[in-house]
Amino acid sequence: MHDFRIDLRSDTKTRPSAEMRAAMAEASVGDEQHDEDPSVNELTARVAALLGKSRALFLPSGTMCNLIAILVHCRPGDEIIAAGNSHLISSESGGAPAIAGAQIRSVSAERGIFSAMQAAAAVRPRKINAPTTRLIHVEQTVNRGGGAIWPIDVLQELAGFAREQHLAMHIDGARLMNAVVGSGVAAREFGDCCDSVWLDLSKGLGCPIGAVLAGSEDFIYAARRWKFRLGGAMRQAGVVAAAGLYALDNNVERLRIDHENARRFAEALHSIDSVSVHTPETNLVFFEIECSRMNASQLAEALARRGIGLGVESRTMLRAVTHLDVNAAGIDEAAAAISHILG
Ligand SMILES: Cc1ncc(COP(=O)(O)O)c(C=O)c1O
Repeated sequence: MHDFRIDLRSDTKTRPSAEMRAAMAEASVGDEQHDEDPSVNELTARVAALLGKSRALFLPSGTMCNLIAILVHCRPGDEIIAAGNSHLISSESGGAPAIAGAQIRSVSAERGIFSAMQAAAAVRPRKINAPTTRLIHVEQTVNRGGGAIWPIDVLQELAGFAREQHLAMHIDGARLMNAVVGSGVAAREFGDCCDSVWLDLSKGLGCPIGAVLAGSEDFIYAARRWKFRLGGAMRQAGVVAAAGLYALDNNVERLRIDHENARRFAEALHSIDSVSVHTPETNLVFFEIECSRMNASQLAEALARRGIGLGVESRTMLRAVTHLDVNAAGIDEAAAAISHILG
């Protein structure tokens, strides 16, 4: 185990600040399972309003938000349309097929963003032996699309298509607030494009736990039942909801610093001969190395020995994620170390 001084492996590595911990210690609490926790109720009301939805539900994780949304929207044998590089397909232990019985049809999409026309091509015909297409799933921002932001007009066109076809639409908002800050589009405009949407508190917003799923009254009623069934209903959860309230007040606007740091890192990498890198839109930087002496794992290991953490995506690809526990000096040190190691 390495001790990372500069941990760019993920924005999930943030630790709750002293101020956030103080807010948690002072939280009013009650029995969340019975809707009696004032902090949870305040958090869900705020997130529902933020996303332009009637109600919201506090859940332990983003993975559970995706799974419960799919359980509500789909029946066993239904099909979900999602980008081939989505977190849903690669990193949720096959929850949608294993628990909801829904299969996923992947769309090949550059940076994870696909058009209404591509979705139309993926919808199954009404045939006795075909699965029923039920749901379109999109990620905002796209994690393995380099943190790309779905442009609002592309999303609106897709939403129009979904409505026309009577398909449900769901937004995985693990980094939704990065998209809001990065694009200047209000969260509720993204929310208006879908039937269900969630945002993660435990990534760029810096909370230790939690995500909030939002939708209509009926959707959230059904989602609450699934939360009970899956054992996700909690008790004095206000202690963690208070961290979410603190984050909404203090950690949203500052996401632009993470985006600036991501650009700063990409610019520094750009000047290294053996590295190719895109200009990041938000806080995720994917870059490729072409070096005869070492592969991505070996570079990550050499960096780890200097206390710098980076994610390995493939033999040649690495990922760096900026967040509130890494400042510009840390970014410069990480870039300089990569330059030095790659020679
Ligand atoms: C795009 C995306 N969706 C969903 C998740 C799952 O969120 P959680 O870790 O809160 O379960 C992640 C986590 O990295 C993610 O990046």
